[in-house]
Amino acid sequence: EKGGYDTFMEKEIHEQPHAVGDTLLGRTDEDGHLVLDELRISEQQLKDIDRITIVACGTAAYAGMVAKYAIEHWTRIPVEVALAHEFRYCEPIVSERTLVVSISQSGETMDTLMAVKHARDLGALTVSVCNTHGSTIPRESDAVLYTHAGPEIAVASTKAFLAQITACYVLGLYLAQLRGGSYADDAAAVLKELHQVPGKIEQLLGSMGRVREIARFMADTRSVLFLGRHVGYPVAMEGALKLKELAYIHAEGFAAGELKHGPIALIEPGQPVFIVVPGPDTPHGLHGKVVSNIQEIRARGARTLVIAQEGDTAVEPFADEIIRVPATSPMLAPLLTVVPLQVFALHLSTAKGLDVDQPRNLAKSVTVE
Ligand code: M6R
Repeated sequence: EKGGYDTFMEKEIHEQPHAVGDTLLGRTDEDGHLVLDELRISEQQLKDIDRITIVACGTAAYAGMVAKYAIEHWTRIPVEVALAHEFRYCEPIVSERTLVVSISQSGETMDTLMAVKHARDLGALTVSVCNTHGSTIPRESDAVLYTHAGPEIAVASTKAFLAQITACYVLGLYLAQLRGGSYADDAAAVLKELHQVPGKIEQLLGSMGRVREIARFMADTRSVLFLGRHVGYPVAMEGALKLKELAYIHAEGFAAGELKHGPIALIEPGQPVFIVVPGPDTPHGLHGKVVSNIQEIRARGARTLVIAQEGDTAVEPFADEIIRVPATSPMLAPLLTVVPLQVFALHLSTAKGLDVDQPRNLAKSVTVE
């Protein structure tokens, strides 16, 4: 049942090209336009949306953070991400023109369910991004956009994360398509590129040997930091969460711009730091800014483990290790950059002799508040 892999997690990591591909499947017509009749929300209602709030927990919330950057960029609709367990208690501002998107692999997470119910009570339109057919959250929502990752058994989420991001992209691109004009043209171009991502993940999975080696050498490590910026910021958070869950190692994810506001004090000789580098064509010169961050922490002795696009030579002088990912446009990069971090956590957990699929103290779905 593990398909020849030692653990469900490893199997699920390798199923990621399909998780993304299947989540895209059947959602476009022959002209390449997105068709989301399954949502059963009228086009007019969707066009009237003036604000989106995403509610989720854990890894699903990081998918939501990625979605925020992408949906705001593609639609110019303001998007907020709320941890579901905070949402209900912060007097959320929603109206009938707010779309509340919940993200949940299991569809049973109590905190997320309660947030959805609360949003509905306040009159919002609710859409569930969910991986489990017939589960509670989709039933309690106005509409559902299923992710097609297949059953996820390992407690640590991997393929569901990629499928959640993909489904949110689909939703954002659909809203952009409905807006028409240059929004729709840009969305069509991104969608085309998105269809190429499963092949790129496949290629990336074939080149993870060095990541496994790095993990094996780090079995005694006590702390690992993760830096990212833009859509790489939630990826850094997710990398840290995977390491906490699977290897019980202290790990923290930061927005790279925060470094000099405090976290750089943590850097001491030998401190391992993963850096998720934005592609060189990321707007606002963010690539160069992150390269400077790498330079700064390396000058203070950090061991820099750099995740960078193929062909990005600017990182080379400051990297102790470079993990290459295939090039893609900036918004889609998380579907690739997170993969080495998942693989790293998996192998570090294995190197420590831990139970990869069933980490201590955790449940696959958290059905209590
Ligand atoms: O089933 P859900 O997507 O609602 O679960 C949300 C979180 O509990 C879940 O993502 C959790 O953070 C995972 N253990 C992460 O690996």
